[in-house]
Amino acid sequence: MRHGETIISNVEYQQILNEIVTDIQPYLQHGEVANYIPQLSMVDKQKFGIALHTIDGRMISAGEASETFSIQSISKALTLTMAINIAGDDIWKRIGREPSGNAFNSLVQLETEHGIPRNPFINAGAIVVTDIILSKYTDAKSAILEFVNWLVPEDVIEFDSEVAISEKSTGHRNMALAYFIKSFNNLKNDPVDVLDAYFHQCALKMNCQQLASAFLFLANRGVNPVSNEIVTSPNHAKHICALMSTSGTYDAAGDFAYSVGLPGKSGVGGGIVCVMPTRFSLCVWSPGLDKQGNSLAGIKALELFREKTGISVF
Ligand code: DON
Repeated sequence: MRHGETIISNVEYQQILNEIVTDIQPYLQHGEVANYIPQLSMVDKQKFGIALHTIDGRMISAGEASETFSIQSISKALTLTMAINIAGDDIWKRIGREPSGNAFNSLVQLETEHGIPRNPFINAGAIVVTDIILSKYTDAKSAILEFVNWLVPEDVIEFDSEVAISEKSTGHRNMALAYFIKSFNNLKNDPVDVLDAYFHQCALKMNCQQLASAFLFLANRGVNPVSNEIVTSPNHAKHICALMSTSGTYDAAGDFAYSVGLPGKSGVGGGIVCVMPTRFSLCVWSPGLDKQGNSLAGIKALELFREKTGISVF
């Protein structure tokens, strides 16, 4: 362990991130890019980026940290923030807070649990979250885009419409989930509209630096430390971090807590964002995935970060 609770200088952080880029190279071969969304299967799996944004305003990055990718399920933590801001704790009447222990797109628990998804990060739960946003904003896609752009320094985030269309034409499992939830009256809007907004939020195009910036409010009790604007309440920020820790990496959340030790949210585009409350947010990206749909080299990079810095919430 190189550091305890001491402040790490920019030079030291830069050196650590550079070392990770070197150490990670052999792992880039191993993962498989997501191929159930055709557009994602075309991404080069040799890519790797890492970016860290401290709450005192420092951005340190290495590798391909400014190259955009499809954020996919990482969006679920941002839409959860919007939904909690809209509905407060009432959202827990419609979504649980327990890890599912199942794949992120599984249907099995929904039948026995009466259409109440286990948590907001599996696809079923995220679809209900999007429904809550759609009940508040008729143009949910624009509301989501505006919210995400508000979190980053420059208003440049867009949807990748080819990815959204690609998923819309192949996302039969998500369609099944949405209609199934609707049959339990746990969707208020038309599944077609909810799915359209959901596929678009997953198709947001961002890079590691932008994602680290967008999640910084979670490390700072709900306040964006760069703009000083309140994004959500301190309690909600704490709750979202807790859920990232227990369910943010699906059926790998136990291993992730054990080996990385930070609340994290992953996506099948190969990105993972972590939060160290009171200190920083950290994003890694590498498109090759492991069996649970999390970035294989990304997880390894986060483990290396913990080893090299000694930083963990535990
Ligand atoms: O709904 C889906 O299956 C994708 N748009 C998102 C899944 C995802 O990113 C799961 N993450 N590891």
